[in-house]
Amino acid sequence: MDKKLLSINSHKKPNHIAIIMDGNGRWAKKKGMQRVFGHRNALKAIRESADTASDLGIEYLTLYAFSTENWNRPKLEVEALMNLLIINLQKELPEFIRKNVKVNAIGNTENLPKRAQKVLNNVIEKTKNNTKITLTFALSYGSREEIVNAIRNISKKVVNNEIEIEKIDNNIINNHLYTFNLPDVDLMIRTSGEQRISNFLLWQMAYAEFYFTDLLWPDFRKEHLYDAILDYQNRERRFGKTSEQIETNE
Ligand code: IPE
Ligand code: IPE
Ligand code: MG
Repeated sequence: MDKKLLSINSHKKPNHIAIIMDGNGRWAKKKGMQRVFGHRNALKAIRESADTASDLGIEYLTLYAFSTENWNRPKLEVEALMNLLIINLQKELPEFIRKNVKVNAIGNTENLPKRAQKVLNNVIEKTKNNTKITLTFALSYGSREEIVNAIRNISKKVVNNEIEIEKIDNNIINNHLYTFNLPDVDLMIRTSGEQRISNFLLWQMAYAEFYFTDLLWPDFRKEHLYDAILDYQNRERRFGKTSEQIETNE
């Protein structure tokens, strides 16, 4: 048995892990290849982190695959990313079904090419009753856009007398985000050495633990996810309380 795996405390597992999969371009460049080569080699890391999270009994894994800002990349790179999305979602569908993975998406997916939307909706539909893990892809996702949308939708309901202003609380806001059916993030991992959030799940990560690694995303493997979880388990999440309160379960 894997030593790292054995040290994971199954009672202190993060329930929701979110990953900013960064560094594909640099990984390819280091090998003297085009950036797209890095994106193509990201698949193994995605598969392995989803399988590992699922084996550990983690219920929610959310992967940042394409941001609202990523639309500003060169046209050819955006096209290549969209094609990879279409091909791989389609290819992985039988595996998602076999492994009991529920696929979900967050973001302004209406901006994706029609073909990508079709494949994505099909995968979501075909896996909607699966129960082992919820695997969410953040696609054309921007946290600020998500919050703006939520405010618009809540405001419309206020104008139509469906919500009273005084009733607006955390719950109502949660219910109007793309992540309405997901719990808060417990552990956020970012690869490639960058230490920033890049417009990812700002609201949902209010109390998340952050873990940064210099590894480039295509090199991310099972043991690296173990490392992140072990690091997480050594932290004390106080949520504003004191250590003493946490220790005595007050
Ligand atoms: C992450 O890798 C994948 C996407 C943002 C789509 P990058 O493409 O950002 O790789 P670097 O950061 O340029 O190395
Ligand atoms: C964040 O990575 C988005 C994804 C991983 C999909 P970027 O590489 O686009 O982030 P910045 O712009 O360097 O912060
Ligand atoms: Mg990057």
